[in-house]
Amino acid sequence: MSRSVNPVLLAGLAAMAVLAAAPLIAQTKPAAKHAQAHPPAKTAPAPAPAAKLGLGREALPEEIKAWDISVRPDGKGLPPGKGTVKQGDEIFQAQCASCHGEFGQGNGRWPVLAGGMGSLKSDRPEKTIGSFWPDLSTVFDYVRRAMPYGNAQSLSPDELYAVTAYLLYLNDIVKDEDFELSDKNFTSVKLPNAAAFYDDDRETTEKAFWGKEPCMTNCKPEVKITGRAVILDVTPDSKTAPKVD
Ligand code: HEC
Repeated sequence: MSRSVNPVLLAGLAAMAVLAAAPLIAQTKPAAKHAQAHPPAKTAPAPAPAAKLGLGREALPEEIKAWDISVRPDGKGLPPGKGTVKQGDEIFQAQCASCHGEFGQGNGRWPVLAGGMGSLKSDRPEKTIGSFWPDLSTVFDYVRRAMPYGNAQSLSPDELYAVTAYLLYLNDIVKDEDFELSDKNFTSVKLPNAAAFYDDDRETTEKAFWGKEPCMTNCKPEVKITGRAVILDVTPDSKTAPKVD
């Protein structure tokens, strides 16, 4: 598919032309006058299919394929390929280090990609791939989709495996420069903070709380208002705020 023409834009423009020619594409019927007076029927009629607005067109299979590049934690969606830490080092220095620093430490205010281990509970948590991210698939998927910034989706699968391997190395998750990451061994790599993530369990842990009958026993006898937002000084001043460098 040619990259020089934006087919979505073209399709959109075409649709606008159609709209201009036929302004009355979808018109709702006026509601029956007595509709409000009657209680709703016991079995509500099935909702009418959504009115077509006549905008755009269905995406082509090639267009969907170009964006359908998600990689899941279980490895689904990984393209075949492989790359070593050493190869990733070269790619990283050429295409990533200008922003993220040679060792992923981040240049200036660009994002830090390595380090920060054990900092999550501190006043200044440093959330990196090593300290925070739960799944390696997110690294691969994110870099594949969005990096290098300004030239996204330019890396080949082999380059992606290599650069992901180098990011593992920078985070001390693999120690061997000859380590080769591939679609075959990808899911065997676990990130250090994986266990800290768990599925939303509120349906069970807060079941009692969300019951139909709210708990109305053992309530406080009286509620005392201790402060009001308008008089609370919520902006920390230099004496109470934590030190920031
Ligand atoms: C021109 C600067 C630039 C270059 C070059 C660049 N990045 Fe980034 N990178 C960014 C910015 C900016 C973000 C944050 C984007 C956002 O949050 O929307 C980012 C985010 C990331 C993140 C996610 C960080 C996080 O914790 O959220 C990863 C991983 C990453 N980049 C990897 C790479 C890799 C690998 C390369 C080289 C192939 C690369 N980047 C090249 C600027 C850059």
